[in-house]
Amino acid sequence: MPHSDGLAWGALADISRFAALLTMAELGVADQLADGPLDTDELARRCGAHAPSLRRVLRELAGIGVVRRAGADGYDLTDAGAVLRSDVPGSIRTSIRMLGEESFWYAMGNLPDTVRNGSSAYVAKYGTLYEYLAANPDKGRMFHTYMTIRAIPFTEGLVKRYDFAGVDSMVDVAGGRGHVLAAVLHANLGMRGILFDLDEVADRARELLAAEGLADRCEVVVGDFFASVPAGADAYLLSSILHNWDDDDAVRILRSVRRAMNPGSRVLVLEVAVPDDDAPHLGKDLDLRMLAIFNGGLERTREEYARLFQEADLELAEVIELGTGASLIEARPA
Ligand SMILES: C[S@@+](CC[C@H](N)C(=O)[O-])C[C@H]1O[C@@H](n2cnc3c(N)ncnc32)[C@H](O)[C@@H]1O
Repeated sequence: MPHSDGLAWGALADISRFAALLTMAELGVADQLADGPLDTDELARRCGAHAPSLRRVLRELAGIGVVRRAGADGYDLTDAGAVLRSDVPGSIRTSIRMLGEESFWYAMGNLPDTVRNGSSAYVAKYGTLYEYLAANPDKGRMFHTYMTIRAIPFTEGLVKRYDFAGVDSMVDVAGGRGHVLAAVLHANLGMRGILFDLDEVADRARELLAAEGLADRCEVVVGDFFASVPAGADAYLLSSILHNWDDDDAVRILRSVRRAMNPGSRVLVLEVAVPDDDAPHLGKDLDLRMLAIFNGGLERTREEYARLFQEADLELAEVIELGTGASLIEARPA
C-alpha cells in the first residue's frame, strides 16, 4: 500500500489553511484585533461576518498560530498574525487577497484543464492577465501592491549583491509601480532612472516615485515593450517580466531592449531560475502559477535564459544568487 501520510496530506490541509487566511484577510480580522482581543460575537459584528462560521475559521487560524484563544469565547492576534494587518510594513494582507482573488483561484483550480489542453484555462475565461487588470482597475491596484510586497526580498538581495558601478542610468522595463527601481536609486545616489510600463500603471508609478522623493531623478515613460523601450541607458532591468511570456515573446522583448542598448549597456534579468533537480524550490511553485495564468509563461533554468539571450544577440555574462531564491542574470551585447 502506498505511504499515506506526509507531504501529500499536508498539501490537502494547506487548502483549508489558505482559505482560512484568505477569509481573515478579506474580512480584515487582523485589523479588528489590532487593539487587543475581542469576543467572537463582537469580532464577527465588526467584520460583518456570521459568528458561528467565523468561530470555526478562527479555530483553524489558531491552529496555524496567527490568532490565539483569549477568554471564554474570544481571540487575540499573535505576533505571527500581525503581518496580516493592513497598516504594518511588509503587510501580506493584499498578497493573500490577490492569490485568493477570483481569477487567480480559478487559474489554480483549473490547472488540470490547462495541463490537459496545453493552454491556460485562465486565459480562456478571463483573457490575458494584463487585459484583465486593465479592465478591472481595483484588481490592477491589488496586483501591483502584491508585486511590490513580493519584490521586497528580491530587491534587498539585488541592492546588496549586485555592483552597479558604471551604471549612471537605468530603465526599469515594465517596472510596475517602480518599487524595484526606487530601491536601486536609493542605494545608488548618482543614478537616474526611467520607469517604463503600460499606460494604466503610469499614474501609480508616478505616485510611488514621488512619495519616495525620487520624482526629480526618475521619469515615467509609457509604452509597449514589444514595440520599443527608451534608448541609450547603461542598464535595462527586467524584473519578473520574461517568466510571463513564451520563448518567442520573451525573445521579442529582449530584441526591443537590444535595439535600445549602447555597446556598453547591460541587461539585468531578475527572476527565480529553476534548478534542474528534484528538491523543492520557489521557482517550481511559481512555475505552476505561470503555467496556470499565462499561455506559455514559465520559470526557466539558467541554460534556458542563456538560449533566449543568444536569440536576441546578447550573451549571458554572470549569474548572481540573491540569497532569496531569486537570481540576477546579467547579459551583454554578443
Ligand atoms: C509581473 S509584473 C512585474 C512588475 C515589476 N517589474 C516587478 O518586478 O515587480 C509585469 C509588468 O509588465 C507590464 N507589462 C505587461 N505587458 C506589457 C507591455 N506590452 N509593455 C510594457 N509593459 C507591460 C505590466 O503592466 C506589469 O507591470
